[in-house]
Amino acid sequence: MSTPPRSGTAGRTIPFRATLGRSVRLFSAFRKEQTDPDLFYGTLARDTVAQLRSYTPLDGAVVVDIGGGPGYFTDALNAAGARCVCVDADAGELRLRGGEAPGTAVLGSALDMPVRTGSVDVCLSSNVLEHVPEPERMADEMVRVTRPGGLVYLSYTLWLCPWGGHETSPWHYLGGHYAARRFTRKNGRRPKNDFGCTMFALSASRMLAWSRDRDDVDVLDVLPRYLPGWMKPVVRVPGLREVVTWNLLLVLRKH
Ligand SMILES: C[S@@+](CC[C@H](N)C(=O)[O-])C[C@H]1O[C@@H](n2cnc3c(N)ncnc32)[C@H](O)[C@@H]1O
Repeated sequence: MSTPPRSGTAGRTIPFRATLGRSVRLFSAFRKEQTDPDLFYGTLARDTVAQLRSYTPLDGAVVVDIGGGPGYFTDALNAAGARCVCVDADAGELRLRGGEAPGTAVLGSALDMPVRTGSVDVCLSSNVLEHVPEPERMADEMVRVTRPGGLVYLSYTLWLCPWGGHETSPWHYLGGHYAARRFTRKNGRRPKNDFGCTMFALSASRMLAWSRDRDDVDVLDVLPRYLPGWMKPVVRVPGLREVVTWNLLLVLRKH
């Protein structure tokens, strides 16, 4: 795909380049996820907004952030001029930061979104799809609420990547249930991302097949979200892509 013109608030050009340096910065922030969540999620949210702007202007855009949890993405999108609503199924997640839900938050499920059909310019979800039992249904919902001509930004962690089991990694390679039992034994509590309950084994192939089956969307991009641009071809290699891509990003335009 050729790179479309990039615009941001006040029509300024916003450069977004998936360089090796950017990947290193994201990875360094990720290493501080537990000790400094504001640093990691704030960095990731700003990166996502910059990336999103390379596909569509955000100034004044109506955006839904599905599974936005404590609202880092919602805040970054609003700071970029969008009018963003965070929809999350877990009231506790919405209140994770400072005890208050983000101002523009709605309690609701991604599988049955409390959002009108064709009503939003951009529907975004970051690292949510692997947490729902019916990922195609959630992706269908994302397309449903997006207006014709609008954008769907759908990104999730692949099960077979080194972080696929989240906090139970890398033991998920020996099976999700085994990894969860092992975590429970070691920590005296179930993992937050509990295999078969709040986390599922989701492949790249499954959602690529879903996107091919939809005749009302154009696939603008399929990317390894955090990796340098020159690694993009890896998503075309079955098998290898499941391990190397890490986080798959589908960018779709609704007809
Ligand atoms: C790993 S967090 C991702 C948070 C944020 N989007 C990010 O990328 O950092 C997953 C979020 O998805 C939410 N979630 C899980 N299942 C959901 C569902 N069925 N509907 C809406 N949100 C859901 C969780 O409550 C949680 O806030």
